[in-house]
Amino acid sequence: MSKDLWTFVDHYMQGALLPPDPVLEAVLRANADAGLPAIDVAPNQGKLLHLLAQLLGARSILEIGTLGGYSTIWLARALPAGGKLVTLEANPKHAEVARANLARAGLTHVVDVRVGPALEALPALVGQRFDFVFIDADKPNNAAYLEWALRLTRPGSAIVVDNVVRQGSILEAASDDPLIQGTRALFEAIAREPRLEATAIQTVGGKGHDGFVLARVVSPA
Ligand code: SAH
Ligand code: DHB
Ligand code: MG
Repeated sequence: MSKDLWTFVDHYMQGALLPPDPVLEAVLRANADAGLPAIDVAPNQGKLLHLLAQLLGARSILEIGTLGGYSTIWLARALPAGGKLVTLEANPKHAEVARANLARAGLTHVVDVRVGPALEALPALVGQRFDFVFIDADKPNNAAYLEWALRLTRPGSAIVVDNVVRQGSILEAASDDPLIQGTRALFEAIAREPRLEATAIQTVGGKGHDGFVLARVVSPA
């Protein structure tokens, strides 16, 4: 088992199932040119988000953690005409790169990029109801973001949380790493949350060994 093999398999699957996409390729180049870290979702993961949003018939999407807008574009392209996506990004430079990328993708009028720490931006969204929430920002706040996602969704909405495995480091219960404790707190919060049905899936690929949580909002019994 090696990351090289996972990467080759990713390339094989992407070659078979994901047509060349000059816009998304330009986005990744623009991110690299701007010095952004290459921590976007992988192309096949981006397409998974896109398909999930389409399967849900999502008309409103909330993303926490924009970076250069790579996952944002995958998600926004799943929206029907009139659909909207709000994405929250703390780093003004990332947000600026994302806005340029969204313009390149023709999505400026679909996506609302809000700059600032997500926990400061989220209260302004109270009253809105999102069909799909993608949580992919600072991992120590994941339990808090989950709580917000519950406030901003409805029964039938879906919530996806990225990077919940981190090469298996989530098993380190005694760790004082806030990333690990944040992710463990997320799992514990989901476990005691009657408004959610959830699973988690490990992934391997060009981005290493990681995973995501998929949850569905239900009406509590
Ligand atoms: N979803 C993106 C990757 C996001 S990387 C993609 O797949 O393409 C995580 C992002 O979260 C980074 O851009 C980082 O600046 C941002 N972030 C970190 N802390 C944050 C916070 N408190 N509020 C909002 N965004 C934050
Ligand atoms: C990191 C963040 C991510 O969202 C990701 O997908 C991979 C890595 C990070 O902060 O290291
Ligand atoms: Mg991520």
